[in-house]
Amino acid sequence: MKSKTLSFQLYVFESLAELPEGDQELINLASRAGEDAYAPYSQFKVGAAVLLENKQVVIGSNQENASYPSGLCAERVAVFQAGAKFPGVAIVKIAIVASSEKQTTLKPAAPCGNCRQSIFEYENRQENPIELLLMGGEGPIYKCLSVNDILPLAFGSDSLG
Ligand code: THU
Repeated sequence: MKSKTLSFQLYVFESLAELPEGDQELINLASRAGEDAYAPYSQFKVGAAVLLENKQVVIGSNQENASYPSGLCAERVAVFQAGAKFPGVAIVKIAIVASSEKQTTLKPAAPCGNCRQSIFEYENRQENPIELLLMGGEGPIYKCLSVNDILPLAFGSDSLG
């Protein structure tokens, strides 16, 4: 038997000011998008801002539903919108900002499993990593250099044979 250790580099920034200006702007756009989230059931608002290779930014926010599973996370609203509006244009990075009306979210919220899988499809297809910038209500900002980092052994088109 062999054993392998899979690891990845997470970059932690104590404040927005530590990040390059472009990243700060993208995070601010995600934060603003989150204000328009429709989250009456969870009061957990998430905004996402997708930066494309053509410099366009596409935003999304979580859209909930009285039938809970019918709602959709901010990340998928944003990447699907990007795919529909700018087909074939590569995604460079995605900023995701979460805040809770119930309590101050200290930790940045990482994309849920379904969103990781959805974003990975784009990363795999474009054969270029998608960077993630994650921020909570306050506190540090996390940066991951690739979706694959947070979805090890990902299932992609090549897995289908
Ligand atoms: N949510 C997102 O929008 N993105 C995530 O990555 C995690 C969860 C939303 C879904 C739901 O509307 C609310 O947050 C609570 O789960």
